[in-house]
Amino acid sequence: MDKYIIRGENRLHGTVDISGAKNAVVAILPATVLAGDVCRIENIPNIADVNTALEILAELGCGVRRIDRHTVEIDSTTIVTQTVSHDLAKKMRASYYFIGALLGRFGRARVPMPGGCYFGVRPIDQHLKGFACLGATVSPMKDGMIDAHADKMVGSSVYLDMVSVGATVNIMLAAVYAEGLTVIENAAKEPHIVDLANFLNSMGADIRGAGTDVIKIRGVSRLYGTTYSIIPDQIEAGTYMAAAVATHGDVTVRNVIPKHLESITAKLQEMGATIEEFDEEIRVSCPDKTRHCNVKTMPHPGFPTDMQPQIAVLLTMAEGTSIINEGVWENRFRYVDELRRMGAEIQVDGKLAVVQGDSQLTGAPVKAMDLRAGAAMVLAALAAKGVTEIEEIQFIERGYEDLVEKLRGLGADIRRVTEEELVIKQA
Ligand code: EPU
Repeated sequence: MDKYIIRGENRLHGTVDISGAKNAVVAILPATVLAGDVCRIENIPNIADVNTALEILAELGCGVRRIDRHTVEIDSTTIVTQTVSHDLAKKMRASYYFIGALLGRFGRARVPMPGGCYFGVRPIDQHLKGFACLGATVSPMKDGMIDAHADKMVGSSVYLDMVSVGATVNIMLAAVYAEGLTVIENAAKEPHIVDLANFLNSMGADIRGAGTDVIKIRGVSRLYGTTYSIIPDQIEAGTYMAAAVATHGDVTVRNVIPKHLESITAKLQEMGATIEEFDEEIRVSCPDKTRHCNVKTMPHPGFPTDMQPQIAVLLTMAEGTSIINEGVWENRFRYVDELRRMGAEIQVDGKLAVVQGDSQLTGAPVKAMDLRAGAAMVLAALAAKGVTEIEEIQFIERGYEDLVEKLRGLGADIRRVTEEELVIKQA
């Protein structure tokens, strides 16, 4: 098993460039299915989830041409099947966006229940309700396959029982060609929802209100190919901002949209970090000891759940006791046991965690329990005394491009060691 080996206590300093947003690109790549034409997507992050999405597109029959590391061209005129295979779907949560996209274009989709990070049950009832509202029949699941079909998709009003990023995306995809008007109420407002709407509109769709909780989609009869550049990754940026604070460093995070980072900026400032905002970059410095604060995760524009494990690490080192209230996922504290191995004192009760501050973290062998939990382990290791070995790094590499290189560029002592290298060393 490949590992990261990190020696902590180096203050990070310098500039890091943020990649394209994972949660935008995993919606936009499936959305290219709707074009029936050639789309060129720029600023794609070079991460495992993108590779999986591209493999699924190729499996459907799309022409997929990598222009360079961050640009791809997808020709969806040549699609031959509306079925996604288990082997690919299980590798990423967002494989279910192919249901909305295939249903929207062909009125038929067979897609397995998706894989992805585990934070307790992850139902998709709101996605299925949305498809049904638009006139699709979703057959009872057989062999783990979701089978949806419609003779004709017709616009309708869909009220989401809870704010769901995935359901908002899937309903937008399914509704782009539906006859008449679709209204999604209580829609998610995340930056990646707006990015998807902008992408679809650039192909000729008629979507208004993305970024508010009411999104209106008027069905169109055709879309055209487009060239589109993915927005910067809010959570990757937040993770490097947190790394600056964890190591009492001074880091400029470049190629970001500061507006998307407001909730993260506010919490880091409350903890005592100094933050300067520029047009497309943010400088974070934190020479002194940080203060405790309370955090409640919420849908955008609230504090993002995908930054919860990372801020927990910072709170273990801050002065005083902090409370974290996880407001989105049922079970997103599985990383706490791993942090405890490094000396953190955290008590969890359901969706609440009480974090005792003033801990001196020390290096230990730990695991990445999921993508953001893994990012939290990296932050803890950067701050800790001694050496930390992190296993299960495939979770981290699903979502962070060139993490090792970017951190080394900021002065971190981090190495990625492959299983073969470890075997040779032990022999
Ligand atoms: N929910 C339902 N029924 C549904 C859909 C959602 O009960 O049909 C519940 C979920 O169980 C959860 C809440 O609603 O409690 C919100 O779930 P949402 O659908 O918004 O999450 P998601 O679309 O599955 C996306 C991101 C996650 C991020 C969440 C919340 C992608 C590919 N994933 O997941 O990102 O945590 O929104 O912001 O966009 C990550 O990047 O590490 C990650 C996990």
